Amino acid sequence: MPTKIEKDAVSGTMTTGHEWDGIRELNTPLPKWWLWVFYACIVWSFGYYVFYPSLPGVTGWLGWSQRAELEERMAAEHARVKPMLDRIRATPVAEIARQPELASFAVAGGRAAFADNCAPCHGAGGAGAKGGFPSLADDEWIWGGDLDAIQRTVAFGVRSAHADTRQSQMPRFGLDGLLTPAQISDTAEYVLSLSGRSTVPAAAERGRAVYAEQCVACHGEGGRGNQELGAPSLADRIWLYGGDKAAIERSIQAARGGVMPAWTGRLDEATIRMLTLYVHQLGGGR
Ligand code: HEC
Ligand code: HEC
Repeated sequence: MPTKIEKDAVSGTMTTGHEWDGIRELNTPLPKWWLWVFYACIVWSFGYYVFYPSLPGVTGWLGWSQRAELEERMAAEHARVKPMLDRIRATPVAEIARQPELASFAVAGGRAAFADNCAPCHGAGGAGAKGGFPSLADDEWIWGGDLDAIQRTVAFGVRSAHADTRQSQMPRFGLDGLLTPAQISDTAEYVLSLSGRSTVPAAAERGRAVYAEQCVACHGEGGRGNQELGAPSLADRIWLYGGDKAAIERSIQAARGGVMPAWTGRLDEATIRMLTLYVHQLGGGR
């Protein structure tokens, strides 16, 4: 509600004439120096806009634009690396690995592509992440750690939408009623015993029989795993989904079926080869 503009008795400042519920607004304008800096910035911005343009099509009075410069630099960079990328496209990965200059170029390119495309799932430096994203830096391999195996996994994925995907499906023993909860518990106990962690020998013994019937075809004798089938080792202490009893029971109950996307078509052939060499040298390559 508008009121009279007058001097406020307490502060000695003029009021603005605005009042809300008995509270009157004091008129305290911005300091002059601040206002002038503000106006100066606006004036400056027009000059800046003209001489330092970033809008498409605008090249400014000096015939220079940030966009054109970016394009020029990118073109120069592409021209610089093109011969190397062409060589990588034309050379099988095993052969690239034998040529030090080409290999170090490929590993550097692979490192950059990995950070962009793979690290969200596999962690920085391929350290792996909870929930089924394997470490690529250890020497445990689900599908194989030589150059050809890695290249195939990266190109076509695992349980991906690509026709050539790696494919293997563990049965859902609990959900589909293939095993009773008691059998699942016993089998989990046996799986624990494979890495020396079972505390109930009688249950592990019962689980051994179930394992021999239901699991050995994929996970192998003593749980050593099978790379042909992408069945991970159950005997080392490296786990995709957790190695305590509850997590193992959940794996048997529902199976997990993690998905690794196919990269062929999304990344070009040279990038896939560079990624293969990068992953291979992370520490566990065979
Ligand atoms: C959406 C998440 C995701 C992304 C992104 C992803 N991966 Fe994977 N990757 C997985 C999963 C899940 C597995 C495990 C599949 C399984 O259970 O067999 C896997 C498995 C792998 C394996 C096989 C490991 C082994 O032990 O045999 C390699 C190699 C691999 N990824 C490389 C890559 C590379 C290189 C990239 C980037 C181009 C990438 N991944 C991006 C989820 C992902
Ligand atoms: C048809 C092949 C197949 C059979 C049979 C099978 N598995 Fe698997 N299992 C797999 C595959 C493939 C995976 C990889 C994880 C996934 O499903 O993504 C796996 C994963 C697991 C895991 C998780 C491992 C981890 O690192 O977290 C456990 C535990 C497991 N299986 C136990 C069993 C047990 C116990 C049985 C028998 C009751 C069994 N599996 C039968 C193929 C099989």
